Amino acid sequence: MQNKYKPVWNRLEQSLPRPERVRKVIQMDFQEYKTKVEAQDDSFVNTIVESLYSGDAYLIKGAFSKEFMTDLRKNIHEYCRDRPSEFHKMLEGSPDFHRMIDPEAGKKYAVASCKHSCYFYAWNDDPFDLFTPINERWRILKLLMGLQPDEYEKNTPKDGVVDRIQVVRYPPRIGYLEPHTDPYLHQRLIFSGYMSKRGVDYQGGGFYLVGEGDKVINIEDDIDVGDICFCYATVYHGVAPADNNKEPDWEKDDGRWFLSMYSNASDEVPDRHTAAPVKLSIPEVMPS
Ligand SMILES: [Fe+2]
Repeated sequence: MQNKYKPVWNRLEQSLPRPERVRKVIQMDFQEYKTKVEAQDDSFVNTIVESLYSGDAYLIKGAFSKEFMTDLRKNIHEYCRDRPSEFHKMLEGSPDFHRMIDPEAGKKYAVASCKHSCYFYAWNDDPFDLFTPINERWRILKLLMGLQPDEYEKNTPKDGVVDRIQVVRYPPRIGYLEPHTDPYLHQRLIFSGYMSKRGVDYQGGGFYLVGEGDKVINIEDDIDVGDICFCYATVYHGVAPADNNKEPDWEKDDGRWFLSMYSNASDEVPDRHTAAPVKLSIPEVMPS
């Protein structure tokens, strides 16, 4: 399949530095986005790639149904309750697993965080039938990123790059992810799905992007359950603590939930390209 986005990405990446600061947030309806990306009309191709490479983020409304996200939240909560917290590297044969990453454990990762993450790979039994509906959306983004729509789908760790779905719960008050950039080598755009809504499921905090002058651009008020967001992976971003006057409880299912889709270099690859923290002085986005 011809990919008209790829040469535009290559030309820009060879001539200009990668974006670090968000420029603006553009909202688009899911059907319009899908139709335009798949049509690969020349002017759209140039406009959207140049916009993303200038640091624009896209908030796509209604990419998933609300039921898909609320069912997923409920299912993952039960799944984690019935299994121990574990950790497995991205090596050949890795099982699906979940891990409660408390503030101490979170400091051992390249990017510091506190979160409860549940990881799924396509080579396992896909207990919640996530890969079919998610790949339907991921293929559109892969095309936009200059990849084959089904690129990496059948890979396992020995192939070097694998698709991983992560369902995350940020516990009230202590949940966060420090500002960082993500690896752009295999996936140029970060790809997030929203499973909860600010003002309903949690108060304050949440996903933010960093603009010029370290300005925190928080887009959560525009987000509904089922929306997705993407921007170039090197645009600084993070997750600020929410529900600051609530007690964190790892067993509950309240608070902020989030879905992440990433094509990662596996742990079978030496010196793999990973996320990196960015040291900014923005106290309001860090846990107190
Ligand atoms: Fe990230």
